[in-house]
Amino acid sequence: MPRTGACPRPGWIGVTNPQPGGHLPWASLQGEICLANNAPLATIDQARIAVIGLGYVGLPLAVEFGKRFPTVGFDIDAARVAELNAHHDHTREVTADGLREATLLTCASDASSLAGCNVFIVTVPTPIDDYKRPDLRPLESASRTVGGAISRGGIVIYESTVYPGATEEVCIPIVERESKLAFNRDFYAGYSPERINPGDPQHRLETIMKVTSGSTPEAAEFVNGLYGQIIKAGTHKASSIRVAEAAKVIENIQRDVNIALINELALIFHRLDIDTHEVLEAAGTKWNFLPFRPGLVGGHCIGVDPYYLTHKAQQIGYHADMILAGRRINDGMGSHVARRVVKLMRQRNQDMTRSRVLILGLAFKENCPDLRNTRVIDIVRELRSYNAHVDVHDPWVNAERARDEYGVELIADPAVGHYDAVVLAVAHDEFVAMGAERIRSLGAPGAILFDVKRALPRASVDGCL
Ligand SMILES: NC(=O)c1ccc[n+]([C@@H]2O[C@H](COP(=O)([O-])OP(=O)(O)OC[C@H]3O[C@@H](n4cnc5c(N)ncnc54)[C@H](O)[C@@H]3O)[C@@H](O)[C@H]2O)c1
Repeated sequence: MPRTGACPRPGWIGVTNPQPGGHLPWASLQGEICLANNAPLATIDQARIAVIGLGYVGLPLAVEFGKRFPTVGFDIDAARVAELNAHHDHTREVTADGLREATLLTCASDASSLAGCNVFIVTVPTPIDDYKRPDLRPLESASRTVGGAISRGGIVIYESTVYPGATEEVCIPIVERESKLAFNRDFYAGYSPERINPGDPQHRLETIMKVTSGSTPEAAEFVNGLYGQIIKAGTHKASSIRVAEAAKVIENIQRDVNIALINELALIFHRLDIDTHEVLEAAGTKWNFLPFRPGLVGGHCIGVDPYYLTHKAQQIGYHADMILAGRRINDGMGSHVARRVVKLMRQRNQDMTRSRVLILGLAFKENCPDLRNTRVIDIVRELRSYNAHVDVHDPWVNAERARDEYGVELIADPAVGHYDAVVLAVAHDEFVAMGAERIRSLGAPGAILFDVKRALPRASVDGCL
């Protein structure tokens, strides 16, 4: 069956190749024949892997591959590369011993280190801009890097979370332009989204089933086989790159929308003076009631990825009402918490302008140093808008990062008996282990204790979500 394809000359059409990896009888509309070969992919044991972007996703991947395959970990951040070469990972996802075990891994910030690699795995950030539109610049830049290093028979596999179509519509044309190679003839592509959950010792890269896909049946088989080398939980080969892209983004949208529903219920039940958790506990006795809890939705994924799909939907003329409603509700929860704390303080006749509030936790979630898109900052800012003096304490978070990213000066040792209100914003193990009594002792007599995470017994706090 004729199909348009990646013959080196525009306007030529190809015929489905009867022999995988063999000659493609490309033909021009004038009947000329192009004898271009389909470059064969390397076999899996010939893989020389490059992981582009050594963050929360890229580093564990580079380490696992680096135990079995020659692997280059590439990052534009020279300081990150230096810390990894010194066997230190500030994200705490990989231990020093784990880094040492990856004996075939070398980390570099110089693109010349990518020479000789034939598998490029892209794990760079996919943030949103100030207008909540996808910011594809890191992906575009990484694609230029890959284009400069890939050669015939190479494959580029994207792991970054995107909207369906981004890999083939945005990234691949850049690789083609930079490499001057033809897609699906000279080089191939795959998409295999990451599902890791930083700070969660149970769900690790190797123990989470991985979705794989490829731009041709052979590429899909290669990608699936390659990840099969490191993923103990197995792989799921999706039918196309777009299906795999869509699957990843909806995993996070489903969580976001479900949490938004529970947050909305919490807003309603608070007004009705009903304890949300007691309601959820009772409803949760039904076999198919889903166990979501109210809370702040921050981080690099759940609060961000929905905008990738809504952007794509908008591009094709569909306004994603429900997904965006969920985003609005979740983004409002930090201010809601702050207003509840202020109300409780006022009910005790505390003067907000002279009040001191302690926030426990700034990371976007428990037992993790990740500050990206933390919504605890909304609590801090809203309280400051009432002229409260707000201190923030988080033993997991790097003080310099907190200062650089949010202008927050973390305090290392909160003074005992000092605060008019204490807000437990992130349930780090250290805070939970302190218990309500020790946390309360940080406050002055009569101080408010507000538990965002419902990590403390209800009777021991003054308010919770
Ligand atoms: N963190 C998670 O829990 C998680 C889970 C699943 C999927 N994801 C997705 O994975 C992707 C990566 O996320 P992350 O959390 O690892 O990000 P990260 O910010 O922790 O790490 C990204 C790394 O890429 C580097 N980088 C940026 N641009 C680069 C470029 N052009 N070339 C080389 N290196 C570059 C940065 O310096 C950084 O070290 C995102 O799309 C994210 O949505 C993240």
